[in-house]
Amino acid sequence: MTRAGDLIYLDNAATSFPKPKSVVEAVQHAMLQLAAAGRGSHRLAEQADRVVAETREQLGRLFLVDSSRFIFCQSGTDALNLVLLGYLNPGDHVVVTQAGHNSVLRPIHDLVVNRQLKVSCVSCDELGQVQAEDIMGEVKDETRLVILTHVSNVTGAIEPVEEIARILGTHRAALLVDASQSAGHLPLDLGQLPIDFLATSGHKGLLGPLGTGVAYIREGLENEVPPLRYGGTGSSSDEAIQPNDMPTKYEAGNLNVPAIAGLGAGLRYLEENGLDSIRTFQAQWSSKLAERLSILPGVQLKSPTAAEAHVGPTSFTVDGFDSREFSAILDGSFGLQLRAGFHCAAEIHKALETEKTGGTVRVSPGPMTTEHALDRLVEAMKSILGV
Ligand SMILES: Cc1ncc(COP(=O)(O)O)c(C=O)c1O
Repeated sequence: MTRAGDLIYLDNAATSFPKPKSVVEAVQHAMLQLAAAGRGSHRLAEQADRVVAETREQLGRLFLVDSSRFIFCQSGTDALNLVLLGYLNPGDHVVVTQAGHNSVLRPIHDLVVNRQLKVSCVSCDELGQVQAEDIMGEVKDETRLVILTHVSNVTGAIEPVEEIARILGTHRAALLVDASQSAGHLPLDLGQLPIDFLATSGHKGLLGPLGTGVAYIREGLENEVPPLRYGGTGSSSDEAIQPNDMPTKYEAGNLNVPAIAGLGAGLRYLEENGLDSIRTFQAQWSSKLAERLSILPGVQLKSPTAAEAHVGPTSFTVDGFDSREFSAILDGSFGLQLRAGFHCAAEIHKALETEKTGGTVRVSPGPMTTEHALDRLVEAMKSILGV
């Protein structure tokens, strides 16, 4: 199931591929059978409304919290921008980590330049791991937001989100979790944990189509986050002012109903198969990968290997090769689709010491990745290394 023709896809950290058949069917059905959501009281519009509402309810079930708190976005980046640009005020202090994605670090950089934001960046170790005490060491009385990357999209290292959430629960600083690389892999109980904001892609662990993302805003905090976009919501159309109810407030403009239908099918797949069993399967795959790569000469693993510290992508470098050159050989000569480079996360490579190797080569299995794919990768690497 990992094959597209004779190509083998091993970059589920970029997008899950192939998608479950049910996701493809849901998108197709929506394209053929559903009209615009929230735009009319005829049957086709009402059916679209139902699909959108069901997908939202599934998000509520996955994260164990009221579904009206979830906002459909175009991507994880879109969701992060909604929170960061909306919540942060001139002069605020925030804490980020070195493992953060550019979709956190670039909006923050812009806010530093244009809103005089003050930033503390917590270092990670040589495998992308960040310690809770180092994060808390940067939280001050005036800190307004702590932004954690639940799982690094470069090394798969897990940040101590639950621990920090519990500690920050009694602090005035809010917590934003970038779950783009963890959603669908790790459970997160938003009903229990004091997490204020969450942003995630829909096209990776949640198995939805590209062009989907989700933002979560804890009850009450919507009063401190203005919308990124104003416009038609399909409701209160005779009023000049944008509706203030959740999630309509943030969803001006037509929703991408086919993509949301696909995301709903992805979430159903997760519900039916269970996060735990998907994680166990992927952890076993990654553990065999690490074991087999670590004995190859010149291969340097750049990811934690302990199952409790890692999920998803495994990064490595190969002595004597630029990472992008190595992945080009894997593709050109062996049909293996892996991403190499900096993976839109510039800072972490300073800690990994992978700036000089052109970043890392990244392998990331999905729920449908086969053992055969692992064998093909290891054989290809042995062939390139001449062992
Ligand atoms: C950790 C992390 N944050 C944010 C993003 C951005 O998400 P999107 O591509 O959905 O905009 C990604 C995507 O690779 C990611 O891995």
